[in-house]
Amino acid sequence: MTWLKGIQKLRPVLVSVLFILTSQGGNCLVVSPVGHTLVNALAGTNVTLAVSYSGASDPVVTWFKGPLPVGTWTINANFPPDIASNSWSVLEIERDGSLTFIDVPLRFTGNYTVELTKSGQGKASATFTLIIYEIIQNVTLITEADFAQEGAQRFTLQYSMLQGVVEQEIWRFNGRDLKNSTHYLIEGASLVIFGPNRTDKGSYSVTLMNPFSSVTTHKNVTVLYGPDEPIVEPPPIQPFYKAGDSLIFSCQAEGFPLSIPQWIFGGQILPDFHQGVLNLTNVQTSQGGSYTCSVVNELTKEKREKNVTLNVYDVSLGSPTCSVVSVNNADLQYQCKWAGGTPEAQLSFPALSNTSSGAGTFSLTVTSSANLNDKTITCLAEHPIEQNTCNITAKSPRNFIPTVETSVDSDGKIAVTIRCVSEASPPAVVSWSQGNESVVTGSTYQISSDATQLKIRSYNISTFLLAPNYTCTCRNPLGSQRKLFQLQGPTISDSSLFPNQDGTIITLTWEVPPTSLVTGFDIQMKGPDLLSHSGGYSVPKRSSKEYRIIQQKPGYARSTDVFLLDPDMTYRFRIIPKARLTDGEPSKVHRIGPGDGLSGSAIAGIAAGIPCSILVLVLLIGIIFLIFYHHKKKSNKTRYPVSRAVEKVKTIQPKAVSHNILNRGLRPPPDYNSLHQMPSERSGTLPMFVPPAPVRVATTV
Ligand SMILES: *[C@@H]1O[C@H](CO)[C@@H](O)[C@H](O)[C@H]1NC(C)=O
Ligand SMILES: *[C@@H]1O[C@H](CO)[C@@H](O)[C@H](O)[C@H]1NC(C)=O
Ligand SMILES: *[C@@H]1O[C@H](CO)[C@@H](O)[C@H](O)[C@H]1NC(C)=O
Ligand SMILES: *[C@@H]1O[C@H](CO)[C@@H](O)[C@H](O)[C@H]1NC(C)=O
Ligand SMILES: *[C@@H]1O[C@H](CO)[C@@H](O)[C@H](O)[C@H]1NC(C)=O
Ligand SMILES: *[C@@H]1O[C@H](CO)[C@@H](O)[C@H](O)[C@H]1NC(C)=O
Ligand SMILES: *[C@@H]1O[C@H](CO)[C@@H](O)[C@H](O)[C@H]1NC(C)=O
Ligand SMILES: *[C@@H]1O[C@H](CO)[C@@H](O)[C@H](O)[C@H]1NC(C)=O
Ligand SMILES: *[C@@H]1O[C@H](CO)[C@@H](O)[C@H](O)[C@H]1NC(C)=O
Ligand SMILES: *[C@@H]1O[C@H](CO)[C@@H](O)[C@H](O)[C@H]1NC(C)=O
Ligand SMILES: *[C@@H]1O[C@H](CO)[C@@H](O)[C@H](O)[C@H]1NC(C)=O
Ligand SMILES: *[C@@H]1O[C@H](CO)[C@@H](O)[C@H](O)[C@H]1NC(C)=O
Repeated sequence: MTWLKGIQKLRPVLVSVLFILTSQGGNCLVVSPVGHTLVNALAGTNVTLAVSYSGASDPVVTWFKGPLPVGTWTINANFPPDIASNSWSVLEIERDGSLTFIDVPLRFTGNYTVELTKSGQGKASATFTLIIYEIIQNVTLITEADFAQEGAQRFTLQYSMLQGVVEQEIWRFNGRDLKNSTHYLIEGASLVIFGPNRTDKGSYSVTLMNPFSSVTTHKNVTVLYGPDEPIVEPPPIQPFYKAGDSLIFSCQAEGFPLSIPQWIFGGQILPDFHQGVLNLTNVQTSQGGSYTCSVVNELTKEKREKNVTLNVYDVSLGSPTCSVVSVNNADLQYQCKWAGGTPEAQLSFPALSNTSSGAGTFSLTVTSSANLNDKTITCLAEHPIEQNTCNITAKSPRNFIPTVETSVDSDGKIAVTIRCVSEASPPAVVSWSQGNESVVTGSTYQISSDATQLKIRSYNISTFLLAPNYTCTCRNPLGSQRKLFQLQGPTISDSSLFPNQDGTIITLTWEVPPTSLVTGFDIQMKGPDLLSHSGGYSVPKRSSKEYRIIQQKPGYARSTDVFLLDPDMTYRFRIIPKARLTDGEPSKVHRIGPGDGLSGSAIAGIAAGIPCSILVLVLLIGIIFLIFYHHKKKSNKTRYPVSRAVEKVKTIQPKAVSHNILNRGLRPPPDYNSLHQMPSERSGTLPMFVPPAPVRVATTV
């Protein structure tokens, strides 16, 4: 090829010679492309870069690829074209100077220039661009990881293909063309997504194109994200629920892929109701507390929790209770209690202190002062569900009257129980003294455990009567009441008699001074015998001149009924109070009957006047006869009615009789026991009566 090299060396000279020749005029060499100078060809096909020329015959044709000559030939020469050795099997120079590629391979893409020269005819050239393509095949989109992850720096999609030359590529996301931006970078065969997030989930595609083929490939990209902050609904969780309420909460979180939200309470995972729904029916206070909703991303293992505090409140049963107690008998402690609620109720005494309060139970100690006396203090009990109050009033000891109760012990001792009870709040502390000495429990004195009762026991009533005055003092921090009293012997202070209408029944009532010692009463009567109980008729005797005991009553009795009286006779009654063997002064005498009649003394007086006049005697005899006759007649007359009366009395309940008597309104019986809270004789069961040891005959007054 030395000649070829020679031509190369001579080329500038030839060009300048040609230039001179052509500029001098004469026949001019021209070459022009046939068809487009840009030629696309599919690899493996035959392609020709076709030219035509004029102005000279049989010029020298030389093809260059870029700057390099790839073949030369003198047209119509009888030697074959000179082809570069690496292109032998591909390149052919046609008779018209065109260049043909046989089964063109990819590497022949390039700019081709044809140069025609003829000595003396000058030189001409034309340039082609040849691009060899392959069919695009088996394109796949690949990613570095299976999933994009929110928060990662970047996520890259890349295409690869088995073969092909790409003239143009179009990336799409959910059908939308993508361009370079802050979020995307399209470079080389890849698409980079910067800072991928959940919105980048979707279908990506790339379309690769050249003049001979176009291939589109899709890939679905999934973005892992979350869990986000779980959301608990309903959102405005009530400040508290009442025990027994039913409530439903749901917990949801955004993310992919997510586990089912779990509710955790007290370290325990609660059974799932339905996709994170917490369904609590009839909720109890034990179910109050912090509930945690926990959500996990199953792939990233990322976990989020949300705490929900559930307050389940319950109010205590009942109402608050208030009390006041004494502290060292000097200060007052106000107490308020309303325990058992959830949460415990807040208790306070606003009237006493605005700053201190307590939960469930509260006590406040204040120095006692007169203005707290009788002042109602309210305890305010505040609970989220309910407000309540209770009131307490501190009271100084109230005035009172000591009561005395006398009985006879089994060993025959008189037992006197003195009670000093003063209404007070806090309860009064009772102290006892006798004269200047305080009374202590011993053989004679016994003070009850609450100190309200002093029991004195002795065989001898004078022990009680001669003793110095007793004092009982009832004291609380707000004040005290002191009572001085001396015990009295058996005494009746007042008594009355109430007859029924027929005069066959009487009721005796009496009263006893509060400090009097009485263990029983003898009911004495003077007058004819009472009618027989048997219902038969007995002739009433002449009235007895002596009082005789007709009834014995226990110490607490304050009334009695006497039945079977003859309405035509005169009776006298009196009551003897007794302290064991000692009798007290009898009560005044109550008389019932038709006038005085002829009393014994009257007869005696008349007898003394016998000497005065026989007429008087005769008159007297007449009168006596008349009286006797009248009496007999009356007895005969009354026999039937009396027995009827007896029958009637017998059938009438004593209680009812008493009622009738009392209700008749002759004179209202006194309120016997306004101070003595002892059971009334009429109030039912017969009380135990200790009868006096000897049978006594009533003493005359
Ligand atoms: C290309 O040219 C060669 C030689 O001329 C021929 O054998 C072949 O069949 C041609 N190929 C096509 C596809 O025409
Ligand atoms: C062909 O020439 C054009 C300018 O004419 C140039 O832009 C291009 O890069 C060249 N191609 C090759 C393969 O050298
Ligand atoms: C390329 O794709 C064709 C059909 O589209 C298939 O038959 C062939 O096996 C694929 N080749 C490779 C290497 O995947
Ligand atoms: C995107 O930008 C890169 C580099 O800045 C560049 O190489 C690429 O060709 C651009 N792609 C498109 C489609 O503009
Ligand atoms: C996701 O990223 C896009 C683009 O950066 C942004 O516009 C969008 O607000 C982001 N979304 C979220 C939920 O972060
Ligand atoms: C992508 O997802 C869509 C539905 O979301 C489905 O129809 C399609 O076949 C998926 N494509 C691929 C390549 O998995
Ligand atoms: C909640 O649970 C109760 C009983 O356990 C059931 O009757 C009720 O339908 C449930 N409510 C919901 C919304 O699941
Ligand atoms: C939720 O409560 C649990 C205990 O009950 C605690 O360990 C956790 O830190 C709490 N979480 C939050 C977010 O307050
Ligand atoms: C507490 O406050 C109330 C009203 O605010 C007031 O009437 C009361 O006197 C106060 N009590 C005390 C002890 O300060
Ligand atoms: C307490 O007394 C107040 C008035 O002083 C009254 O309104 C309230 O009802 C009383 N509370 C109770 C429980 O009696
Ligand atoms: C009791 O004490 C007073 C003085 O406190 C005294 O005058 C009186 O004599 C005392 N009486 C007796 C019985 O001790
Ligand atoms: C007891 O008290 C009365 C007045 O209640 C008084 O007259 C009497 O002297 C007192 N007796 C004694 C022993 O102190």
